[in-house]
Amino acid sequence: MKFFLDTANIEQIKTAHEMGIIDGVTTNPSLMAREGIRGEENILAHYVRICEIVEGDVSAEVISTDFAGMITEGEKLAALHKQIVVKIPVMESGIRAISYLTGKGIRTNCTLIFNPGQALLAAKAGASYVSPFIGRLDDIGEDGMDLIERLVHIFELYGMETEIIAASIRGTGHIIKCMEAGVDVATCPLDAITGLLNHPLTDAGLEKFLSDHRKLNG
Ligand code: G3P
Repeated sequence: MKFFLDTANIEQIKTAHEMGIIDGVTTNPSLMAREGIRGEENILAHYVRICEIVEGDVSAEVISTDFAGMITEGEKLAALHKQIVVKIPVMESGIRAISYLTGKGIRTNCTLIFNPGQALLAAKAGASYVSPFIGRLDDIGEDGMDLIERLVHIFELYGMETEIIAASIRGTGHIIKCMEAGVDVATCPLDAITGLLNHPLTDAGLEKFLSDHRKLNG
């Protein structure tokens, strides 16, 4: 399973990159706003900065909702850097835009996926990735992991080339379940990824090793 970092925070991206654990980055307009990135020029420059830190795919989301706007933005974003994947919301104009951009050789990530039908249409239109949101389904009393498991099954059944990015991940439990489900990519906040390192027996074991060493060596 590949790990993408779900953030626009440069320090976190550098940290995860230096740990050697991330295969790409996903952003969205909310994550960009959280970092205070405003104005088209600054936003585009920020995407380039992220691409210069990591080696893998970097999803950059359009803010238009009409077809013409989406493809204009998509072409501009894709021209920024070869690692850019254009992130497009699942809606009729978005599916058309995915189809158009795919025809131009531009890779896309169809976002805000909450059911298998949306994922199917995005995949049929040629999306490189679909992004189902786990946490937001859990938030309204549905089962986000159930959607992931169904999508993995359906995409395998039909040999779909589109990769599934499990998004809206809220913690280590989601990550482990995504691994078990065989999802292609989990895009996570850094603390959810580093949380995988934690185990009380690791802490206790290390403390014992070091205190035994100190007893003999001072
Ligand atoms: O990248 C989109 C997605 O991961 C958002 O997550 O936590 O805002 O539901 P969240």
